[in-house]
Amino acid sequence: MTAKKRVAVLVSGRGSNMQALVEAAHAPDYPAEIALVISNRPDAPGLAWAKAQGILTLALDHKRYESREHFEGQLQSVLDLSKIDLVALAGFMRLMTASFVDRWRDRMINIHPSLLPAFKGLRTHEQALEAGVKISGCTVHFVRPEMDDGPIIGQAAVPVLASDTPETLAARVLAAEHRLYPRALALVARDQVQVDGSVVHIQDAVYAQFNQQQVLGSPSL
Ligand code: GRF
Repeated sequence: MTAKKRVAVLVSGRGSNMQALVEAAHAPDYPAEIALVISNRPDAPGLAWAKAQGILTLALDHKRYESREHFEGQLQSVLDLSKIDLVALAGFMRLMTASFVDRWRDRMINIHPSLLPAFKGLRTHEQALEAGVKISGCTVHFVRPEMDDGPIIGQAAVPVLASDTPETLAARVLAAEHRLYPRALALVARDQVQVDGSVVHIQDAVYAQFNQQQVLGSPSL
């Protein structure tokens, strides 16, 4: 068996997506291990949860750094020292400089709670409800310097109900995020994806199975 990819997960808050990745990575055949959890907020609940699991954690308080470049310099040193192969952003609320993002090009992924390219930025579920969409969902993508932009690895769809509030829609999308993120990370960790410009190609046999699992109405949802 090839070596598991070493993944650092970056969080700023609750960390439920990080938790989903950690739990998926317990499976013996999962192709990645969560080697490190980093937060820019020392009080992030996600950081405390990871620590309690015995995962190596680090608080890098961005307020203690004089610039974004200094903060990212420290972050890069830690990632290098820990021999990290892939970075997974999971509710990480800091914008990164283009030079940091380019250094991790096609090795850094993010999850966003909408079907990108719709509804980038914050207040995603409010935006979806205001637009009146009938289906929403979540997206895992490679990170590019522009916010919530980059080649799409996978998406999952959920219905929008007439009675939805931003909170109820968020909860339904979040449950889909927890299913999608570990699957998408596994594709990347197994080198089953290839980035071609703005499009991610996934090996045929893998893609059919992967995408079917995410589509609305699939029996596995
Ligand atoms: C998720 O909705 C994620 O898509 C977005 O921020 C939220 C983080 O939630 N980027 P959690 O910290 O993973 O619970």
